[in-house]
Amino acid sequence: MKNLSKICLLLIGVSLLTPGLAAKDPNLKLLKARQGEMQLRAYNVGPLFGMAKGKMEYDAALASKLANNLKTQLSLDIGGTWKQGTDVDAYPGKTTALGKIWSTYPEISNYGKKYANAVNELADAAGNGLDALKPKISAVGKTCKGCHDEFREQK
Ligand code: HEC
Repeated sequence: MKNLSKICLLLIGVSLLTPGLAAKDPNLKLLKARQGEMQLRAYNVGPLFGMAKGKMEYDAALASKLANNLKTQLSLDIGGTWKQGTDVDAYPGKTTALGKIWSTYPEISNYGKKYANAVNELADAAGNGLDALKPKISAVGKTCKGCHDEFREQK
């Protein structure tokens, strides 16, 4: 009887632990970190697109600040979050990163360089008036989309 209740407790313990174990896959943290960095890009470009499209009044100080935030993000070294084997085939529903990122590497870095160049130009121009901002934010948007079209799962 004593042994039976021990086994029962053990089984309950295991069933409680199982979801916890799945959540502890360290790769899930990598996915969240790199997606968080992308979300931060979206946060920064949002009002810049808003200004360019006339949905928001142009504000030189804000435009300059957000463009410089994007530029600051360029200096982050989070290459470790882009670990091989963390693509959508391995983590369906958790990531949209295609295995192509790794199988064609370093092709994606060309897209990254184009993006960085566009962001640097944006940071120089964003505070210099709406006409200066417009073409530069549009160029940045194209580099975001260019990389997504190539290396993200299309819905
Ligand atoms: C060099 C390639 C590249 C560039 C440039 C790029 N992205 Fe991404 N982005 C990705 C990849 C790959 C993913 C998928 C990440 C994942 O799901 O693990 C992604 C995912 C995202 C996501 C979804 C994040 C989530 O929570 O799932 C957003 C939002 C995003 N990017 C915004 C942007 C914006 C805005 C820009 C430009 C300012 C940009 N990205 C530029 C490659 C890029």
